Formats: sequence, structure tokens, C-alpha cells
Amino acid sequence: SQTGLQGSKEREQWKSRVGFMLAALGSAVGLGNIWRFAYVTGENGGAAFLIIYLVCVTLIGLPIVLAEFAIGRKTQSDAVGSFVKLAPGKPWVLAGILGVASAFIILSFYAVISGWSLKYLFGYVTGELWSTPATGYEGFFSDFTASPLEPLIWQSIFMFFTIGIVLAGVKKGLELSNKILMPALAILVISLAIYSVSLEGSSEGLRFLFSPDWSAFSDPNVYLAALGQAFFSLSLGMGALITYASYLSKKERLPGVTVGVATMDTMFAIVAGVMIFPAVFAFGGEPGSGPGLVFMTLPNIFNSMAIGGVIGLAFFLLLTAAALSSAISLLEVAVAYFIRKFNWSRKKATLLIGGVIYILGIPSSLGYGLLSDIKIFGERDILDSLDFLASDIFLPLGGLIIALFVGWGWNKAEALKESDLGRTALGKVWYNLLKYVAPIAILLVFLQASGLLAF
Ligand code: PHE
Ligand code: NA
Repeated sequence: SQTGLQGSKEREQWKSRVGFMLAALGSAVGLGNIWRFAYVTGENGGAAFLIIYLVCVTLIGLPIVLAEFAIGRKTQSDAVGSFVKLAPGKPWVLAGILGVASAFIILSFYAVISGWSLKYLFGYVTGELWSTPATGYEGFFSDFTASPLEPLIWQSIFMFFTIGIVLAGVKKGLELSNKILMPALAILVISLAIYSVSLEGSSEGLRFLFSPDWSAFSDPNVYLAALGQAFFSLSLGMGALITYASYLSKKERLPGVTVGVATMDTMFAIVAGVMIFPAVFAFGGEPGSGPGLVFMTLPNIFNSMAIGGVIGLAFFLLLTAAALSSAISLLEVAVAYFIRKFNWSRKKATLLIGGVIYILGIPSSLGYGLLSDIKIFGERDILDSLDFLASDIFLPLGGLIIALFVGWGWNKAEALKESDLGRTALGKVWYNLLKYVAPIAILLVFLQASGLLAF
């Protein structure tokens, strides 16, 4: 199939460059652009965070996206197998192992948040969310997430769909999602951003997002958060892009796809910021209120509109669809690895790995109720801690190893050829970004966040 998701043991290929580009975009665009971008930006001072994030995307993210594409297409193998093939017996394979581990961790909590999105979709279908609940939208959110059972049910439903699609390889469903629902989400988010800016009191939100508080630049945590967000949002540093590119035929032009995916993903996040922050301030919310930010803010926007119930329904439907295509790419990283490594069938790998990931996600969900006293890293709850470990540490670490591999471990001429950049000026720039700039920048951010380096 075009998605590489069907039952046969032969490796499949995307039919066209557009199919591959859409799949990569489907992986990139998801909860990261709306849910995670909003709350992480809100917690890290707004505009200063946004600037550092954009620098991370351009100087570190872009070159590593192209590196993952080049590696995957060259080896036609999974996140781990790619390094085994290109550099047998060398430690670079650590990037792939970290990547598979990250896929388990990230999908485990991604399904919890996707479950929240499903719950809100349902709330707009039944009409429950059409008017402000007695406890307000904040109360609604905290009551729902604190209840032990209900979020688990929505999480199960989401995992059920994710596993089902990866199992069945319903490429038509994926295509529909990527070709129609993703552009629809883009149009809706743009429209809501325009509406949000028109709200009274919205200008404070725009200032928060675009006018930097310079003191935030001296906070070491902001750099680590921006770096992690760049990796998370681009689906980068864990071999998801290696895996997807491994289903690509040899004669594609990778640099164009790279710029396309990174640009669209980043625009999505910025427009989502313009949708959310003016509304946060207009409705008297708190930008730093954590993972619940969009779930407490967006219903206020819909509530203030004449046909808000329908808009809310459409929004959470499209958000869930975007989350689904990202979740599929996360599951695919682990499944592709287990199929090759242990010679499992796709069915066995998908059911087993999907089941394990589902169970792994349960503590994250309970962390807002039964287990809310458990804090792992600092003040972070269980979900937040797993997110921090995987997204802010593992993904940039994986990216660091991938950059070092291309710059120092791979044959230079081959790397340049496989990137489709060849002996051009741009090729030189790409190569040096990977060899020096990205590794040094990632190391500096790590050192500084760990307190070993103060500036
Ligand atoms: N990029 C996805 C998002 O923004 C999440 C993701 C991360 C998907 C890593 C695959 C790999 O929602
Ligand atoms: Na994203």
C-alpha cells in the first residue's frame, strides 16, 4: 500500500512524492502544533520562547529532517536497522534505539491527550459543551481529567482506532485524512485566529506572543523547552521520518519536501498561537496554566460565537483526525522495528506493541486524578514528566546523534548525494549545519539546562 501499513512482509512504497509529503505532513501536524505548542509557549514567556523555537526549527530542525529523509530512503529500513546497515558495529545505532523508546513513551501519553480531544468532540456532538457548564470550562476540564475511568475510556477508543488503522492499512482513510481533513483544519484554525484577534482585550495576547520579554532569554529552561518543542512538532529525532522515508522510492527530491513540511508545520503552530493567546487574555485565562490550556480556552471562543457549537464540533473532529495521523506514525516506528528485528507479522507486532503502549499510557491519564500527588521531574505530573523525558531529552539527543552521524560517521560524498543536494552551495551549508552548528547548539542547550554552564 501507499502507506506501508499493510499485512504483507514485503516492504511497501509510497506511490508518489505527494503521497510521501502528505504522510510526512500528517505525522508532523498534530496535537504538537495546537495543544503542546500553546501550553509550552504559555509556560515559557511567549514571544521569547517563540523566537528561540523558530531559530531551533531553522538551524537544527531543518537540516536534521533532511538527514532523516536521506538515511531512510537510502537504507529502506527502520529507525534501528538504518544505522545497522550504514555503520555496522558502530554506536550510532543508539539514535534508533532511543527513537523506538521515544515512540513508546510519546504515543503512550499522546493517546491520553487525543482521548481528551475525543471527549470534547463528543461534548459538542451531544451539546453538553454548547453552553458554559455550571463549574465553568475550567471546572469541566479538571473534573473530567480527575475522574479515574472516563479519560481511560476515551484513551482506549483512540488507541483502538490507531491500532486498527495501522493493522488494516486503510490507506484510503489516511489519504482522506491527509488530503481533506488537514487542509480543513488549517482553514478553521486560520478563521478562528482572525476571530480571536477581533475579540475585545485580544491585543494583550498578541503582545504576549510577539513582543518579547527580554528577561526570558536568561532563563535556561526556555531554551530546552524550545528545542524539545521543535523536535516534537517536526516528528524529529526518533526515526519517524527515517521510517516514512524508507517507504520512498529512490528518485525523489528530498530538499523540497523538507522545506515544505517544516514550513507548514511551523505556520500551523504560529497561527494556532494567534488563535489561542488573544482568547486566553480576552476571557481572563492564565497562559501558564499547563496542559489544559487549549481545553479550557477554546470552548470560551466557541461559546462566544453564534454557531459556536458546530464550530467546536468541527474543530475537535479535525484535531482528533490530525492527532490520529501523528499517532499512526508513532506506532509505525515501533512496529516497523519489531517486524524486521523479530520477524513478526504486521498483525502480531501492531497488536502487541499497541497493547503495551496503551497500558503504558494509563498512569499518565491517572496523573490528573488518583495519582495527582505523584510528581517526577520538579513539579511535573506523570504525563508532563514522560513528555519532558522523551520530547525534551530523548528527541534532541537522538537528533544530536543523527547530526553527528551524518557529519562525522557517514561518507561525505554519499551523504550529500543521498540528500539530493550534491555538490551545491546549499549542500555545503546543510553539511556544516549537521557537522558543527546543530551538535554544538544542542550540546550548549543541554549543558546550560543542566546548570553546568551558566550564561
Ligand atoms: N509531530 C507530532 C505533533 O506535532 C507528534 C509526533 C512526535 C509524531 C514525534 C511523531 C513523532 O503532534
Ligand atoms: Na507538529
